[in-house]
Amino acid sequence: MTLVDEKKIQRMEYEIAKLNLRDKTSDWRKIENEVFTRDLMLALYKLMNDGYFDTLDYPISTGKEGNVFKASGKKHGNVAVKIYRIGNANFNRIGEYIKGDRRFRYVGKDRKKIIFTWAQKEFRNLRIMFDAGVRVPEPLEFLDNIVVMKFVGTDSAPAPMIKDVVVENPEKTYKDVVRMYKLILKSGLVHGDMSEFNMLYFRKKAYIIDVGQAVTKEHPRFFELLRRDVLNIARYFGKLGVEVDENQLLNEMLEVLKK
Ligand SMILES: Nc1ncnc2c1ncn2[C@@H]1O[C@H](COP(=O)(O)OP(=O)(O)O)[C@@H](O)[C@H]1O
Ligand SMILES: [Mg+2]
Repeated sequence: MTLVDEKKIQRMEYEIAKLNLRDKTSDWRKIENEVFTRDLMLALYKLMNDGYFDTLDYPISTGKEGNVFKASGKKHGNVAVKIYRIGNANFNRIGEYIKGDRRFRYVGKDRKKIIFTWAQKEFRNLRIMFDAGVRVPEPLEFLDNIVVMKFVGTDSAPAPMIKDVVVENPEKTYKDVVRMYKLILKSGLVHGDMSEFNMLYFRKKAYIIDVGQAVTKEHPRFFELLRRDVLNIARYFGKLGVEVDENQLLNEMLEVLKK
């Protein structure tokens, strides 16, 4: 470790200290030790130095596969920094979604490399969907196990998951989600984990997130994932009182693929 690296680590330790993870649950303490390795701190430093954010603000979420933090800076305003955990990732699940996808077939067995590929995969999926006009957070950069994207929410709080709010006009939101899902299909992808847990609700609009597992058409599970996504959309909006025929919706989606 060079003196320059030491300085960078010190700088990042200051940023991490500000997150106040120690004051939270013991989970966070554990995560702080597991997640913020020296390599990660150097990668975060590089992202800061490249202007993607100037300060880490607060943790948003700790999930099975990663952690999401809010960060902010002069150049991009509020951003979300998603960090995939290398230590205890579910490599079987991840490997399956990578191997069948032509873009990433040859990923090897190195755990670190697999996770780095996974972060790159989420970034590229976001890019494709964003460019196709789907309301997803705009991707900004990826590096190692980190994805930086635009933040959905206000300065003081991230947008809630759609499952935790009262949707003002379920019918309209349903149509909008179906429209977005069709754009995903037209761009050659299937989301693969669509549900009310992976949609945020912000300024009365649904945002689709968590697209790491989205795969291309030749993936052996493409149609199975499409079916599951469609059923999840139908079930959720059905619960909100929207009249949804899941078979008809599935057929509509299949029609999109024929075009
Ligand atoms: N761009 C974003 N803006 C605001 N909050 C976000 C953003 N991306 C993720 N989050 C928050 O982090 C949580 C977890 O993100 P997600 O991508 O679903 O990862 P996972 O479910 O794999 O942990 C989301 O439910 C949401 O609360
Ligand atoms: Mg999620």
